[in-house]
Amino acid sequence: MKIDLSGPLYDALKKATAEYASLIEKNDLPGATKKAAEIARFYHELANMNPVNKKEYLERAAKWERVSSGKIRSKQKPSQSPHTETEKEEENEMSQKASSLIKTSNVKWSDIGGLDSVKKLMMETVVIAGLQKPESIKPWKGILLFGPPGTGKTLLAAAAAGSLHATFYDVKSESVLSKYFGESSKLISALYNSARDHSPSIVFIDEFDALSQSRDGETSEATRKVLSSLLTELDGLSDKKSDQLLLTLAATNTPWDLDTAVLSRFPRRIYVPLPDQKACKEIIKIQTKGMDISGVSLESISEKCAEMLYSGRDISNFCQQAIWTMIHRVNPDLYKMAELSFDELKMRNLQTIPLADDDFREAFMKIRSPITKNKIEQYEQWNDECGEV
Ligand SMILES: Nc1ncnc2c1ncn2[C@@H]1O[C@H](COP(=O)(O)OP(=O)(O)OP(=O)(O)O)[C@@H](O)[C@H]1O
Ligand SMILES: [Mg+2]
Repeated sequence: MKIDLSGPLYDALKKATAEYASLIEKNDLPGATKKAAEIARFYHELANMNPVNKKEYLERAAKWERVSSGKIRSKQKPSQSPHTETEKEEENEMSQKASSLIKTSNVKWSDIGGLDSVKKLMMETVVIAGLQKPESIKPWKGILLFGPPGTGKTLLAAAAAGSLHATFYDVKSESVLSKYFGESSKLISALYNSARDHSPSIVFIDEFDALSQSRDGETSEATRKVLSSLLTELDGLSDKKSDQLLLTLAATNTPWDLDTAVLSRFPRRIYVPLPDQKACKEIIKIQTKGMDISGVSLESISEKCAEMLYSGRDISNFCQQAIWTMIHRVNPDLYKMAELSFDELKMRNLQTIPLADDDFREAFMKIRSPITKNKIEQYEQWNDECGEV
């Protein structure tokens, strides 16, 4: 789920719009006409890069083309101050940036092994928002997913984007704080305005700790501003209607870095732990989809995965390792095919055979979990103190 924020282009557009306003102020009509044509070109480029907002960008491009051809110059030579026009442009730009964060994905719930209760909770939250219900029953506004790296937190969000009937905003903390977002806190308001307009909505903030480690004074002014706008939005004074779903889903693997002001806005804090033996088994099946594993001792292999403290990500690497061992076994001369052209390669099939216990045994030697028992205790302790009961 990569996010393209078209940052440099937005910056150039913003600059050109400000220049246009100042040319109008100086009564430099030829200059302003040229600038309007340039702005129209920027909007065309944005339309090409951004299918979600294509229509809106094309309309704006057409408007600026009319300005540049002199057709609505009288309107664009505003009697109101150009400053107001610039502010409006800025607001539009922010709201377009916010809508560019709307994402879909093709991940399904069935692509996730284990984690049944978390999946259920996310489904229930969306369902309850839609149902007719007494006024006092309100959907959850904030869910925090925390746990060791690679346990499926981002995957859960991707499944929510792929399966739930809700508009899904995919926000990586670091992209909100990126250099293109001098005005990140305005983006947060635009994001939540857009999410309210497109309700039911889920705002997913991945790597949340990057944003919220902040209020200890060590972080930048920008980060602090973003965080405080986020806290205001999470209080959600403007979404009083209980049938409107605006769920903020945040993920982190360092929950202890979150300050209490942030935590209190996430009443549901869900531990996404390392998979147990049953979940390991499910993940192995998912990660070897399309391969024959009927001859493999799945019980004992999954038991060992759990003992080795493998995360879902480790199991994915582990299965890939086993698959490669099998591939090398059956196709020892695979590398020699590098002489063939890509088109010739496409006409041939890779030889595969059922996976065997030996393939996995070798994989156990190569994949080490980066997680220690001490680290798990730290998560469990935090869960006992601050997580769900
Ligand atoms: N429960 C799971 N079921 C199936 N595959 C999983 C599971 N957990 C992890 N994986 C595999 O590991 C990969 C990484 O998982 P994911 O990105 O969701 O971890 P994460 O919890 O977000 O980690 P981090 O804290 O490092 O961001 C997934 O793309 C998937 O291939
Ligand atoms: Mg993640």
